[in-house]
Amino acid sequence: MGITLDGVGFTYLPGTPMARAALDGVDLSLAEGETVCLMGASGSGKTTLLGIAAGMLAPARGRVLLDGHRVDDSPSGVRRLRRAVGILFQSPQRQLFAETVEKDVGFGPRNRGLRGRALSQRVREAMGMVGLDADTYSMRSPFTLSDGEMRRAALAGVLAMKPRFLLLDEPSSGLDAPGRRLFHGLVAELKREGIGILVVTHDWEEVEALADRVEIIAGGRIVNAGDPGSAAANARLLSQAGLIPPPAMRLLDLLRERGLDLPARATSPREAAALIARALGGGER
Ligand SMILES: Nc1ncnc2c1ncn2[C@@H]1O[C@H](COP(=O)(O)OP(=O)(O)O)[C@@H](O)[C@H]1O
Ligand SMILES: [Mg+2]
Repeated sequence: MGITLDGVGFTYLPGTPMARAALDGVDLSLAEGETVCLMGASGSGKTTLLGIAAGMLAPARGRVLLDGHRVDDSPSGVRRLRRAVGILFQSPQRQLFAETVEKDVGFGPRNRGLRGRALSQRVREAMGMVGLDADTYSMRSPFTLSDGEMRRAALAGVLAMKPRFLLLDEPSSGLDAPGRRLFHGLVAELKREGIGILVVTHDWEEVEALADRVEIIAGGRIVNAGDPGSAAANARLLSQAGLIPPPAMRLLDLLRERGLDLPARATSPREAAALIARALGGGER
């Protein structure tokens, strides 16, 4: 049970001099209950990939499947996909529009027929999940919120739809440290509930905390899929994809260049940190 992209290609402004191939032969799957981190440099196709997986963009080549059934070839298929998937955009401003936070969060469920007490309960529950106190925030205009609060309100609106799959486009980039911790706790909880989550991130701490798998995209192609530890340790791959390795990995390289007796590679940032600590401790004695 899950979403599958099979050989998906996508070009913006096709057939014009401005045509831009954004995705090329992308295979990617997201199962229920798994958390996948999508990493790639700016312009590599991450947001386009999410748009396809959410049924907002139609693939020019390849297929999109939901639970093994093709969904990109008919309006009813696209509707099924859109119902199953919640997407949080890169900029929360793009997602918020109602006069109050309560109306904004309740917009989706209301559209699906929820009314009265059931609706207000759904809204409260979703706001609670993202740490927005309903009494404090319900009546506020979403546009008076801070960037971090806006992000939470936008996420509450997505969660209020009870999606089976969540696509999050750089969700923690505007959050402070407590906001990030809350977000990581929330993702862990949603994962336990069986929701499949695809997160675009540049943050290795986030990858280590959340990812079952890391998919790396470069130039519109998935160039690597694997466990977080080996992605983090693959310096050549990361450099080809225009990604910065985790701090502990960079420190390992730097210290080795300065003559500290350290191995050429570690299998994870955690191991790199342990190796550095050992090398420094051994040097003092
Ligand atoms: N609306 C658009 N019109 C034309 N080109 C676009 C549009 N959106 C994205 N692109 C181009 O498609 C490529 C992939 O973009 P995007 O999916 O936004 O990458 P990312 O999210 O990884 O930064 C980039 O070259 C970008 O310039
Ligand atoms: Mg993007």
